[in-house]
Amino acid sequence: MQTRKLGSSGLSIAPLVLGGNVFGWTADRAASFTVLDTFLDGGFNAVDTADVYSRWAPGHQGGESETVLGDWMKERGSRDKVVVITKVGSEMPAGKGLKAAYIQSACDASLKRLKTDRIDLYFSHFPDKETPIEETLEAHQRLIDQGKVRSVGGSNYDAAGLKQALDAAGGSRARYTVLQPHYNLLVRDQYEGGLENLCVKEGLGVIPYFALASGFLTGKYRSEADLGKSARGGGMKKHFNARGLAILAALDAVSKAHGATQAQVALAWLMARPSITAPIASATSATQLKELAAAAELKLSADDMKALDL
Ligand SMILES: NC(=O)c1ccc[n+]([C@@H]2O[C@H](COP(=O)([O-])OP(=O)(O)OC[C@H]3O[C@@H](n4cnc5c(N)ncnc54)[C@H](OP(=O)(O)O)[C@@H]3O)[C@@H](O)[C@H]2O)c1
Repeated sequence: MQTRKLGSSGLSIAPLVLGGNVFGWTADRAASFTVLDTFLDGGFNAVDTADVYSRWAPGHQGGESETVLGDWMKERGSRDKVVVITKVGSEMPAGKGLKAAYIQSACDASLKRLKTDRIDLYFSHFPDKETPIEETLEAHQRLIDQGKVRSVGGSNYDAAGLKQALDAAGGSRARYTVLQPHYNLLVRDQYEGGLENLCVKEGLGVIPYFALASGFLTGKYRSEADLGKSARGGGMKKHFNARGLAILAALDAVSKAHGATQAQVALAWLMARPSITAPIASATSATQLKELAAAAELKLSADDMKALDL
């Protein structure tokens, strides 16, 4: 599999990152192991998780996803084949935010759950207005100096916040080398424009999340009768509007012309955007994952890209 350079992180990744929020949630431990096996066997390498996944699920505390990923890497002896991506800052039982002492202790807790001595890419999950960015970047640099983290990134930053972080970097302060924004065919305006231009200008890697709009862009939700197709179906209601349905119609047309599926076209559209290194998407079964993986082979024409530009 041809890999792409992930900004200046020193990492190279295949063109699809596996989302880990489902591990231990909508994919139980056995299903998660199967999805991870299928992903690695397909020649892919980067897996994205966060300390907080899946705290929102009833009875969960956070850490469930990292634990499943760590167990799988240990059981398979696969740590060196995986680019491990995780995040800090969302509310956990032990704390939240991006203060230096918390970042240090949260990183140690993540390493323990992941059963490894290093994280390849460590994200600030959300900007923290309570903490000076200089303090956060110094804490990240300490982790790099300690060998616990290889490179760091920012998630959910807007253009002004990212620019502030990049301007503050240098010397004892780490530089964000990768952005993880919310970006897909449906949700474009938070990323396109100022933020996208800044990433290109500064040479950041970009790995967008919700690449499939949590399943909507697979085309499996067409009416309220379909909402029961997943535990996450309830969240799809908001997309049943003129724009959402027009995007599904465009996905139908382009996928039909290529003998592909809607999910593959939605991912190929992101893969083809010049500023994007690789989209992040999750899967709850090997069948779903195999379908997503084939997006890496799908080449969209300029006309396809235009038809999807709604
Ligand atoms: N940085 C952040 O703040 C942030 C926020 C959210 C997510 N993320 C990251 O992004 C990743 C992806 O997000 P996500 O899982 O919420 O959304 P997503 O990737 O847009 O949607 C994935 C979901 O779509 C369904 N699906 C996938 N392939 C399918 C197929 N071939 N056919 C039918 N359905 C299919 C599956 O759910 P069902 O089987 O349940 O339908 C799957 O869990 C997360 O795992 C996480 O790593 C980051």
